[in-house]
Formats: sequence, structure tokens, C-alpha cells
Amino acid sequence: MSPRNDPDARTWRELRVEVTERLVDVVGDAAPAEARWIVLEASGLDDAEILVEDDEPAPALARHRIEAMVERRRAGEPLQYVLGSWQFRGIDVMVDRRVLIPRPETEVVVQVAIDELVARGARLGRTDPWAAGITEFAVADLGTGSGAIALALAAELPDAAVWATDVSDDALAVARANLSSIGTAATRVRLVRGRWFDALPIELRGGLRLVVSNPPYVTAAEHPALPADVRDHEPYGALVSGDSGLEDLEHLIAHAGEWLEPGGALVLELAPHQAEAAVTRAREVGFVAVDVRPDLTGRPRALVARRP
Ligand SMILES: C[S@@+](CC[C@H](N)C(=O)[O-])C[C@H]1O[C@@H](n2cnc3c(N)ncnc32)[C@H](O)[C@@H]1O
Repeated sequence: MSPRNDPDARTWRELRVEVTERLVDVVGDAAPAEARWIVLEASGLDDAEILVEDDEPAPALARHRIEAMVERRRAGEPLQYVLGSWQFRGIDVMVDRRVLIPRPETEVVVQVAIDELVARGARLGRTDPWAAGITEFAVADLGTGSGAIALALAAELPDAAVWATDVSDDALAVARANLSSIGTAATRVRLVRGRWFDALPIELRGGLRLVVSNPPYVTAAEHPALPADVRDHEPYGALVSGDSGLEDLEHLIAHAGEWLEPGGALVLELAPHQAEAAVTRAREVGFVAVDVRPDLTGRPRALVARRP
């Protein structure tokens, strides 16, 4: 049936109002913004196109998709899983419940890592398609999840060979699907399965210019008190490290020195209250220029340390 003869037909604008009303008791003030995302996703249009089409009737198929998305959101599923993808440093990253949703603070961690590499002479810029496979230095993103950090590094550092690892086959399947979102730069990303440094080939030992990770850093005891959308939907293994929350951070700090080249940088995301312990540990194992950089809200978030 053509939308014009459909008695249930509503325009994109009307659907946005309807979705806002249906979400307001679940997400409060975020309802108009979420309604906009959901309707836009179902429409298949971009921001500019929907402005032109706003008073046109939406096809029945799009209405059904919107209905399904609203039901999932009303049941508490995170918006990013409902939409199926989320932007990370300008890259469209597919996400579902196999992986952690990439966070804005992790975008800052990537910036810190890039700044460290640029300070040592790395070239910046989107990949030159003619030189896609040519690399000058190696970096590792350990616990890559959706691949967000690794993909951003490969897309923004045209000379980097990026090793992206995870212990979860499910996460690696998502990261693999996301390779296509960075075009030819993906030829410089390798995905490998394994626990932290065990995943890396032995030839890389002592040769990495950067080790970056956003490891699990929540304690087992904190997990039940996390916001329900995080606790009930995001993978436990991506969130929880152990009893202290520092287990994975400590493991990475203890072993990164063996894998970095002299002058190479370690950049780790952490929770603000873990900053002091992580700095102490990094100095104890011989790192220099140890510092913690803030996230967008000004809280300590990224440990930076250099192998002498
Ligand atoms: C906090 S998530 C980070 C995901 C992604 N890097 C990001 O920033 O959005 C932590 C990731 O580490 C992985 N992970 C947990 N334990 C691991 C281990 N022992 N070795 C390797 N990866 C591990 C999880 O599967 C998860 O994908």
C-alpha cells in the first residue's frame, strides 16, 4: 500500500513526536534526542534529507522498525544497541550486546595516545589509499571489544600497524565486522585472540611504539550497583576486572615494559579513583614521565607512561 493510502500513515515529524511521548517516562529529558536518533535510523535518511522529507508520510516498514526499537528501548536496552551502531571519533562502529559501547572518555584516551605518538614524530592524517598497507611502527590495542580504539588509531595514523586483541571471540567477530568502516586503513589492522599480551606474536616483544587499553576496571562488588542499562546489557567480562578492579590494569602495567620499544608509550583508561594506585605501580616497575590526563569532565582518566 502506498503511504498516501495508508490509514495509519504518519509523517516523520509526527513519528518523532509520538516516539518522544513514548520514551519520556523511561529516559526523561533525553526523549526528544533519542526519538530523533530512532526515527532517523529507521528512515535511512541523513540529517539533511530528513529535513526535506519531514512532512512526507513514512513507509509502513519504517513504522514497524521504529515500533520495535521503541519497545527495546522501553525495556531498558541501551540506545546504542537499539540503533545498532554508534559514532566513535567520526567512525560508525557497529555495536551489540557482545561488546562494550564505546564511551566519550575513550575518545579522549585515543587522543592522548595519538598525542604521545605525534610527540615522537608520527604522521597524522586519514590514510592515503595508495599507501594503505605500508607501515612504519606497531601499536597494540589490548581488549579491543568493538575495535573502536584500534580502528581510530588506524584511521588517524597513516603509518601505524595496529594489533587489536581480545579474549572474547564474540567481541572479535564484532571488531572484524567493523573493519569495513575505515576502508583501506583496515589493511593495517590485525585481529588476534588471547589474554592480554599472550595474544601478540613474540616478534613484537620490545618493538611496540604504543600499548593502549581500556581494560575492565569495575570491581565484582560494584557490578550490581551499576546503572541498569549497563549492568543488565553490557558484557560482564568487559566491565569487571576482579575483587579490586585493578587486576587487569596492574597486569598491563607490569608487562607493558617488555613489549614496548625504548621510549614507547603505555596509555591506559582507568576510573578516576584508580589513578593514584596506577601511577605508583607504573613508577615502581620503571616507567618514566608518568602522568594522568583528564577526560572531558576534567576527571583523571588516562594513565600515560613511557618506557625509558
Ligand atoms: C572495557 S572493554 C573495552 C572495549 C573497547 N576497547 C572500548 O574501549 O570500547 C574491555 C575489553 O577487554 C576484553 N578483555 C577482558 N579480559 C581480557 C583479557 N584477559 N585479555 C584480553 N582482553 C580482555 C573484554 O572482552 C572487552 O572487550
